[in-house]
Amino acid sequence: MNIFHRMTLTAASLCLAITSAYALDGDAEAGEQAAAMCVACHQSDGSGMNIPGGESWPSIAGLNAEYLYKQKIDVVDQSRNSPTMMPFLSMLDDQQYKDVAVYYSQLPAKQGAFDPEATEEELAHGKKLATEGDWDRYIVPCSSCHGPDNLGAGKSFPRLAGQHAGYIADQLHAWQSGKRNNDPQHLMLAIAERLNEQDIRAVSQWLSRQPAK
Ligand code: HEC
Ligand code: HEC
Repeated sequence: MNIFHRMTLTAASLCLAITSAYALDGDAEAGEQAAAMCVACHQSDGSGMNIPGGESWPSIAGLNAEYLYKQKIDVVDQSRNSPTMMPFLSMLDDQQYKDVAVYYSQLPAKQGAFDPEATEEELAHGKKLATEGDWDRYIVPCSSCHGPDNLGAGKSFPRLAGQHAGYIADQLHAWQSGKRNNDPQHLMLAIAERLNEQDIRAVSQWLSRQPAK
């Protein structure tokens, strides 16, 4: 195969990758309008915010559109119980929400917040859980599902790298308590229930420090 064939093939596979990233049938421009009611919390750049000691609003910029869309369905049917998000998501009809999901998925991913006082020891433990797991405790590395560098994989496994530490920890607690019960085949529950408080702090602090891009 000569270099030109290779380039054509690469271009073709790039196009495929791009089409499938926005496979959801939504319109980003219309989505930008509808997103007006989301920016109070998720910000106009989709970066969200971490309220120290309070709620954590996730960074949703650059997340897969189909993943974002699934979260709406789950919040509305309450398999993901979020009293904060429910009223806002219920205001959007199906098409409006598809538009918003496509809009946010196309924004560049943003770096989240973390606790600058996390220790080297905590970060080393977090890195180990995220990249190697802990086989003695049947904890699979996060990256085995969330993709190399935990940047996300397809529509099912969201990016964790650079997400707000407070949000990552909140979600792990939500699975433990059953507040979030929307993961296919309980893939996340199986992980979350094996993590103790130190693990949760360590892994969320380490992941939040990893480049979102
Ligand atoms: C009052 C603050 C607030 C507003 C306004 C708000 N959200 Fe949220 N959003 C949150 C919080 C808090 C969470 C985390 C919920 C949880 O813990 O399950 C969240 C989670 C999400 C998630 C899940 C992200 C993920 O990574 O799984 C999506 C998607 C989302 N919001 C989209 C929207 C959209 C679209 C709008 C506007 C229509 C909106 N939100 C308005 C606070 C808000
Ligand atoms: C066996 C596969 C698998 C492994 C391993 C895994 N996850 Fe997940 N994770 C998932 C799936 C699937 C979802 C999406 C659930 C949904 O549809 O809402 C998810 C979602 C999440 C979310 C929610 C992100 C968001 O934007 O709301 C967090 C936080 C998370 N995982 C943390 C972790 C951490 C930390 C580890 C490693 C200790 C880990 N996961 C390992 C499958 C996995």
